[in-house]
Formats: sequence, structure tokens, C-alpha cells
Amino acid sequence: MASRSVAVLPGDGIGPEVISVAKNVLKLAGSLEGIEFGFQEMPVGGCALDLTGVPLPEETLLVAKQSDAVLLGAIGGYKWDKTGLLQLRSGLKVFANLRPASVLPQLVDASTLKKEVAEGVDLMVVRELTGGIYFGKPRGFSQNENGEEIGFNTEVYATYEIDRIARIAFETAQKRRGKLCSVDKANVLEASMLWRKRVTAMASGYPDVELSHMYVDDAAMQLVRNPKQSDTIVTNNIFGDILSDEASMITRSIGMLPSASIGESGPGLFEPIHANPLATVLSAAMLLRYGLGEGNAAKRIETAVLDTLDTGFRTGDIYEMGEEVLKAVESQIPAAV
Ligand code: IPM
Ligand code: MN
Repeated sequence: MASRSVAVLPGDGIGPEVISVAKNVLKLAGSLEGIEFGFQEMPVGGCALDLTGVPLPEETLLVAKQSDAVLLGAIGGYKWDKTGLLQLRSGLKVFANLRPASVLPQLVDASTLKKEVAEGVDLMVVRELTGGIYFGKPRGFSQNENGEEIGFNTEVYATYEIDRIARIAFETAQKRRGKLCSVDKANVLEASMLWRKRVTAMASGYPDVELSHMYVDDAAMQLVRNPKQSDTIVTNNIFGDILSDEASMITRSIGMLPSASIGESGPGLFEPIHANPLATVLSAAMLLRYGLGEGNAAKRIETAVLDTLDTGFRTGDIYEMGEEVLKAVESQIPAAV
């Protein structure tokens, strides 16, 4: 049995509940593929704040860094808790956030878009996660010349930050349908002009990928007008935050969406976009595929989710949904190891 260490950060609110479901599913799918997990639970977010006075304790970051992958539940509802999440992303140097949005045939009627617009949508937003306006300096509060209070942030990207996210995006597109759309605001922002220049320059290294560019306002329209045209979208931190939420609504439920955040090396961070049992279970599948290179075990979980939905089973109850997915994994045949 191969043994893998997973730092588990349940976080706040619904986090611990959805995480316990995801752990059970991981254990079972792993055991069918000869993988054994060592889970280490650590506090983050509001609960860490209560316990230690900071949203991301050093100990938590250390355990996370030393693990093979990090599974995160949900981070609390307060402004200061969110800094824990941002510090975690930054501390783990997970600059590439993969957010898939696909309309499952079982849920096509749940979309608020017309069936013919929603069905068959299968796209991936590759969001830059550790730079841009979220982290740019200078930032803060000050006063303008009239003595009025101002708040300010800086959108800044260095070439190395653009190049490394673009590389992941091209590689992602290669593994998908070979179409990459880079989204920016290069008609206004210098950081976007540089973004477009670097992404364009990289295209010659990926002759099998068809690269296009779109301004973010147009991209926001196209996503609801004709989402099927999108395959892989690469964009900066804030545009990716917004567009991935928009993309998730095509699939109707933001709760369905998993996400994977990866860096150059070191463990990846896997979290549901909004904590929900299926999104967390699907994040566990992404952990297996992108974090541990265990595609077969990942497939088992994804298949189990589809099988569960196929049975027509729908519930808001986390425990019940978890039980159903577990049953679906249980019914799978073990791999011949
Ligand atoms: C997300 C969230 C976070 C973000 C917040 C909670 C800081 O909206 O993961 O999309 O903006 O990145
Ligand atoms: Mn968001």
C-alpha cells in the first residue's frame, strides 16, 4: 500500500461536516486503488482565530507544507478569517487555481439557462491565485488632497507570474479541447497589457493550442450567451474570482464546484468553491488527480458522484449525500493490485 499524507483543514461552519464526508470517500476510493492516507487535522480560519489569535497558525502552515496535499473545508464568515485563506494560498505558493465548471447531464434542468444553452458545457477557469490586486502593494487607507478618506489597491503582475500561470493554462488546454482564451482588460490596464504580451509570446511553444484573447466585460457576456464556446480560460486573480462564480451558475449550483490550487512544487490545496458535500467530494477527486497523480482513484470518486445523481438521489442533507456516494464507491470493483 502506498501511503500519502493529507493535511486536513476543516475550517469553520459547515466545513468539518463536509470534510468528514470527503475523508471517508477518499479512504474508501484509496483503499480500492492501494493507497493509504494519513490525515492530520489542523485549525484554520475563525476557529484558529479563537484558538490561537491568528487565522493561519504557523503550525498549520508547517503541517500543510510538509504534507503531500492539503484538503480545506470552509473558512469562516468574517473579514479577518479570509486573510487566513489568502495567507494559506500565498504560504503554499499555489499560484494556479483550476476551477472546472461542467453541466452534468443529470442536472441540466437545474440550470437557469435554457437547456440548449447549458447542456454540454464543459469549461475550466485557470485563475491566477497569489498575485494581482489581492496582494499588490501599495495598498491601504489614506487621505486624498481634500482630506477625504481613500482606500487603494494595486493590480500588479511581474513577467514570471504571468509566464508560470500561462504555462499551466496552455498545458491544461492541451489536455482538454486545445482552446485557450486569455481574459484581460488590456484596453485599460497596464498589468493586462503585459499579461496579453507574455501570453501571446508563449503561444508559439504550444502549436496544438488555439489561443484567443477577450476583454473581461466581453467574457462575462459570452459566458452566459454561449458558454459552450469556452474550453480553457486563463485570467488574473480578481477576474478569475468573478468569472468562476459566473461559470458556476451555468451549472446552477456554486455548491457543486470543486477547485484545485497548485504551485511549481510542494503540496496542492484542494477546496470546494463553496462548501457543499458534492463539491468537497469532487475536490477530493481533484486532490487525487492533480495533487497525487492518482487518476484512477479520482475517477472512482467522480463516477460515484455521477452514479449517485443517476439514481435520482437529491438531498440537502450532507450526511445522507455522503452515505450515498460512499455506497456508490463501495459497489465498485477493487483494482487488481
Ligand atoms: C474564492 C473566495 C475568496 C477569493 C475570498 C473568500 C477571499 O471568494 O475562493 O473565490 O476571493 O479568492
Ligand atoms: Mn470567489
